[in-house]
Amino acid sequence: MTDSSMYKSYQGLPELAGLCSMERAVESEWSLEQSVGRLKRLHYILRRVHEILTAKITAEPIYELKTAFSYHAYLCAEQVSLIRRRVGEMREPPLGLDKVPDSALQRLMDEIEAAPTTAELLVSVYHFLLDEILSSCRRLQADAHPLADAPTVRVARLIGFELGDLAEFGQRAIAQLVDEANHDAMADWIDHLRQCLAAAGGLDGTKPVMNAMPPRWQESVSTCYQKEPARDERFQDPYNAGVNPEAFLYDESFDSQDKTLMMYYKRLREIDVPEMMASILVDLREEEPWDFHMEMSRQLWDEARHAMMGEVGFVSVGIDWTQIPINFTWSRNLNLQLDARQRHGVLFFIEQGLMPRTGKRYEWEVATESGDPLSKLFQDFDWADEVLHAQIGRRWYVPRHQSLQKSLDYGSECWSQVLSHWREYREQGLTDHRNWWPELYQQACEKWGKTPDPRSMAFCTTYEGSRADLERIDPK
Ligand SMILES: [Fe+2]
Ligand SMILES: [Fe+2]
Repeated sequence: MTDSSMYKSYQGLPELAGLCSMERAVESEWSLEQSVGRLKRLHYILRRVHEILTAKITAEPIYELKTAFSYHAYLCAEQVSLIRRRVGEMREPPLGLDKVPDSALQRLMDEIEAAPTTAELLVSVYHFLLDEILSSCRRLQADAHPLADAPTVRVARLIGFELGDLAEFGQRAIAQLVDEANHDAMADWIDHLRQCLAAAGGLDGTKPVMNAMPPRWQESVSTCYQKEPARDERFQDPYNAGVNPEAFLYDESFDSQDKTLMMYYKRLREIDVPEMMASILVDLREEEPWDFHMEMSRQLWDEARHAMMGEVGFVSVGIDWTQIPINFTWSRNLNLQLDARQRHGVLFFIEQGLMPRTGKRYEWEVATESGDPLSKLFQDFDWADEVLHAQIGRRWYVPRHQSLQKSLDYGSECWSQVLSHWREYREQGLTDHRNWWPELYQQACEKWGKTPDPRSMAFCTTYEGSRADLERIDPK
């Protein structure tokens, strides 16, 4: 037997393309079966985390968590796709990726899904589970043969790298939201999760099975998805539809700088899109293939980014956005009044409507003309994202209909079915549809150091009787 440590590469260059040493490469403790087995377990866990976070977006009131869940669900989806591709390269068809790899892992994820409070959810996902995921990735990276199974090593490294964002966010969020007493109170719950993991032989199955599967934490626990959106206390007067920003934006006679405010508002209001899209993903979980969920998750995350771009826009002008009513009745009404296919139809119809000259290009042109470089930058990328979303819709929604036109007609029809309840909300005392625009505009003019345009100041078009695309509706 030769001594591999004595092996010399040409002129001392790193051997084996820098993958590993010759000493490591001659080790033969690995197999394709082990590689696939570990990847499938990771795949199952990440897919469940993706589903769990997605399902929390709508009813989670805290905006910072809503947007973070949107991002993290998307990041998990990317890792799921990465693993699926790698497993597909390893003589696997049928891939068996929809099978539960271990019933104890399923129990673990069912328990996390049923986390009784947000604090428990944060600690179990971001602290407990993520630690296990990251150490499984490190172990896979170390154990997989660095030459023969180099693509898996790469996948494990990439997952570890990308999920680092979740770990960092989780640590900071837990430090703010979960106090010491709270931590102590959930020690038994975390111990229970540990028991589930021990019954599975660890997340990646590399440890001996230590105990039998523990009973459910709570027998009759409901993990029902809550489709009614919730917002934190900074979102005041969310039923307010007293200002119609589209009517202002598409009126050529108003100044483009003034319009940037309406665009920042429209962006921030887009937090209702993740709230609505999450309900499509939850309802179609079993009906649509993984790639649908992957692409829709990307779109959902883009919409959360658009909302944050609006938030940043207001901060850049020096305006406290919490004084502006950020309406939530679009996501609320769609989630409560339409089924998932209908909601998808409305989404597609709206996004397709953003493609002509009067849509996203127009917003970018207005932003360019306004002299606000941040608005221009945001609209530039917002436009690009919306082109992508229209393509996603053409891939996943249009083929369900006979033609593009028929799919558009269906979307428009579904949108018209949605009752806006404009007057009812006022009668019920939920809002007085206060016109918040003049106050906001006045403040912005002070920041900009410009004299308010009396015509802009007097703008008072509401949503009574019209949809956001300016089509007339019955304002019930
Ligand atoms: Fe958007
Ligand atoms: Fe979009």
